[in-house]
Amino acid sequence: MSGRLLPNEAAMNILGIETSCDETAAAVVSRADGVRSNEVYSQIARHQPYGGVVPEIASRCHVEALPGLVRAALEKAGVRWDGVSALAVTRGPGLVSSLLIGVTAARALALRLGRPLLGVHHVEAHLYSVFLGADAPTVEAACPLLALMVSGGHTALIRMERLGAYQLLGQTLDDAAGEALDKGAKLLGLGYPGGPAIERAAAGGDPEAMRFPRGLEQSGGAAADGLDRRLCFSFSGLKTALLYYLRDHPEARAGAGLRDVAASYQEAVFDALVSRAERALREYPVASFACVGGVARNARLRDKLTRLAAGAGKRLLLAHPDFCTDNAAMVAGLALARLERGLADSTEQWDVTPTLPLA
Ligand code: KG4
Ligand code: ZN
Repeated sequence: MSGRLLPNEAAMNILGIETSCDETAAAVVSRADGVRSNEVYSQIARHQPYGGVVPEIASRCHVEALPGLVRAALEKAGVRWDGVSALAVTRGPGLVSSLLIGVTAARALALRLGRPLLGVHHVEAHLYSVFLGADAPTVEAACPLLALMVSGGHTALIRMERLGAYQLLGQTLDDAAGEALDKGAKLLGLGYPGGPAIERAAAGGDPEAMRFPRGLEQSGGAAADGLDRRLCFSFSGLKTALLYYLRDHPEARAGAGLRDVAASYQEAVFDALVSRAERALREYPVASFACVGGVARNARLRDKLTRLAAGAGKRLLLAHPDFCTDNAAMVAGLALARLERGLADSTEQWDVTPTLPLA
């Protein structure tokens, strides 16, 4: 590493930066006190008129918001510039024009401060989100762990053997779960982002009112990329089913009809997630089960996962809702955990990687 890091620094403070998509975030996590600040600027209002994330707007917003967020994160943490032990930034996967803003800012700061910079994987940071917070177990106590990663860009089942050792068991073959909710909300006229909009619209609705498809047939066989098809997801048929349902049932666009269709659509997404997770829990021996990513904020899903974990006799790890959607505490937390375990990469060997695989 180019910057100087004293390995036994007692008050190790990591400044984390996250700009992989449409949230600009900075946070400070310390060895002694855990998450000391977690600043997030959500760009939702800026993208709302377009019904989804516009990359050019996202990168411009990152440029505008990041300096203030970094200062606020340090101030709220009570850490001065010379108290920053190391920096961490998301290097991929994500939108390349968004990643570049965070990485360039982090590189410049690391150089100026003479401190090391760690580039972290966005999905690995989401996995680490369940280890933030005072009540969280250590990685070692929770592993091996099965994680259901559900966000706007990713839907996957991942077995975590230990920090840095992951096995992809299944993933979506088309849309991510959050994307399916976002697209469904658009069809229902509920706006962006769709996950929270559908959750609100579904309140008081009947999730059994209509039965939407639950994705792939449960038959065996390998998916195109060699993964077990029974642990993979597909949401494109679900979206089409909603389109046809709304064409034939215009009354479902408002009132009780809308509540029922929103609850039923959401239920189909969550049942598809839960059934694959249930199978993976049966087939892979693990000590605990976690759900991470923006969709893990959803109360109905959290409820269904609680029942699943209890039935399977596994400890369930769910992050605080603030740590489910994109944030920099998970970035800094992961970097600290990697540093403590001697897993930090050399800072000179990487660049932003929009399609970075999880090692
Ligand atoms: O993890 P995240 O912030 O960004 C990505 O890495 O993609 O996840 C964003 C996704 C969006 O698709 C959004 O609709 C979904 O998380 N989401 C929710 C909820 N809050 C955010 N989905 C269901 N219920 C929610 N309450
Ligand atoms: Zn994310």
